[in-house]
Parts: sequence; structure tokens; C-alpha cells
Amino acid sequence: MVGKRVRRKLLSCSFLALSAASEWGYPDLDNNQDEPFPKWGGLCDTGRKQSPINLHVKGALKGEFTPLKFENYDEHQGALQMVNNGHSIQLSGFAHDLTLSGGGLANDFVVEQIHMHWWSEHTINDIRYPLEVHIVHRNKIYPNITMAANFKDGITVIGVLYHVSNTPNDAIGSIIKSLDNVKSYAQMNVPTHVADSLAVDDLVPSVDTYFTYAGSLTTPTCAEAVTWIVLTNTFPVTLDQVNQFKEIEYKQDKQLHNNYRELQSENNRALVLVQQQQQQRDSAGRLSAQGLGLIVLLGVAVRQLQL
Ligand SMILES: *[C@@H]1O[C@H](CO)[C@@H](O)[C@H](O)[C@H]1NC(C)=O
Ligand SMILES: [Zn+2]
Repeated sequence: MVGKRVRRKLLSCSFLALSAASEWGYPDLDNNQDEPFPKWGGLCDTGRKQSPINLHVKGALKGEFTPLKFENYDEHQGALQMVNNGHSIQLSGFAHDLTLSGGGLANDFVVEQIHMHWWSEHTINDIRYPLEVHIVHRNKIYPNITMAANFKDGITVIGVLYHVSNTPNDAIGSIIKSLDNVKSYAQMNVPTHVADSLAVDDLVPSVDTYFTYAGSLTTPTCAEAVTWIVLTNTFPVTLDQVNQFKEIEYKQDKQLHNNYRELQSENNRALVLVQQQQQQRDSAGRLSAQGLGLIVLLGVAVRQLQL
């Protein structure tokens, strides 16, 4: 009896998610830089644990966890699918379970999909980056992502920020190569095969230091089900590369020039800056490299104070 009721409730939730998905969007900042951010409804407007937020070194809590463990992320994915869903470019169809565990995570999480935002959604010390990649993972104890979104430990997203450089990023380049197949409005929601083989590892820089906090999906339904892991190390990307993503259409002759959500209130949540705990047996060299990372971070914090 009870089981039936719960199931009906979940179904109506996912129906709501679908009907909202066709209507929501981002402000057209090219047309009007002051266009207010639209109300997306539901938890997006009323939630107290929403994402993205500004990640700040100053005032963050110091955390130490066992290292994050990545399984199969180095496998070359030969059969990836890519889709322009009108809100982003999304990759799925991973050959094997890419499994994330360790850190502060209580369970194993598997990669469901990868998508990007231009410009970045999270900022670090108030600085916005040109691109943010989200690697969305589902807690293996839940059968699918819809179900996982109903629980606060349901989803983990790894956020990777990219900084402006003259050097093209090869992994992003591999994705861009197949972008022409999905750019037009006519091709929206029609998946295409990613021609270049790509390992998810290639999208992830060093995971030595990261911010982690409890937040939400940054798109409707804005479910507060996400453990965020945003890496402090960034990858280079050229503005030419980012501009390729800005050419995808979400309406006839309307390009998606920006798809980042505005910053949300932190609301006294714990923002933790993690430096991965080193095994005793690790070499001294590795430890001193870690120390250097902290000094660089502190340097950033000090520079912020001086501004
Ligand atoms: C997710 O799993 C639940 C429980 O097994 C099932 O009822 C539901 O239909 C699934 N949803 C999707 C989108 O696969
Ligand atoms: Zn995202």
C-alpha cells in the first residue's frame, strides 16, 4: 500500500520535471545585459541549499579526507553520444561504469552524463571562468537519476573550471569536432556520435584540492540532492573554443550565448576546502608539492584581500 503511494508520488514529480523542462531558459545577455534572471519555479525559487555559489578560500572550512578514487576514467570512450538539449551540450553512453568513491563520499557513484556551461556557474574568490564542465554521478544505491534526485545523497557532480589561454584544449577540441552535427535548431535533441575517442580523465585536472558543499542541480528541478566537488585546479581553453559552444541554437536562429545560472545564497552552509590526505608511505616530494598548492591558494586569498 505504502509502496504504491510513494511510487505514484515519484511519477508525478518526474512529470512536473518534464513539463518544466520545455519552458525554462536563460536571460539573453547579448540582447540586454541587465535582463533579470528568470524565475524557474518550485525549489529553484524557494530552496535554501541552491547552486551555484561563490567558492571562497577565506572563510572556508579546512577538510581532510582519504583520496578520491576514480575507476575506468582513463578508458577511451569510442561510442559516446552527444546531444544539444537546448540548454547545454551533453555527453552520455559510457562504455563501462566510471566509478567515483572515497573522499567524503559514503557510497560508490557512477557517471551518468557530462555537460558544460559557458561561462562558469561557480566562481572562485569572485572570479568567473569561461567554461565549467559538470561530470554528473548517480549514487549506485539508487536505480536511476530521477530516483537519485529525490535524496540528499543521490548525486555527486564534479565541477571543472577552465581558464582562458592561447593553448587549445585537446579534450574540449575532441568534443568540438562533432559540434557541427548538433548546432542547428533542427538538430536539437537529436543525438550524434562523438567521432573522436575521449577518456573522461582528459577532462579532469589534478584532484589534489577541491571545494565541497551540499547543493543542488543548477537547472530545474533544482533538486537539493547534490554533493558538489569543484576542483581548484583549472584547465586551459581558448576563447575560440568556448565561442564554438555559443553557436548552438535553442530556437530557430537563436543561439545559446550563455547558460550559467546566477549565484545563489550560501545560507550558512559548510563550504569545505579539501586537501587530500596523503598516505604515510607517500614520498616526501609529493607532500611538499601539496604544501606548494596550499601556498598558491593562500596567495590567491591574500591577493583578494588586497584588491
Ligand atoms: C527509476 O526507477 C524507478 C524505480 O525502479 C522506476 O519506477 C522509474 O520508472 C525509473 N525512472 C526512469 C526514468 O527510468
Ligand atoms: Zn551543470
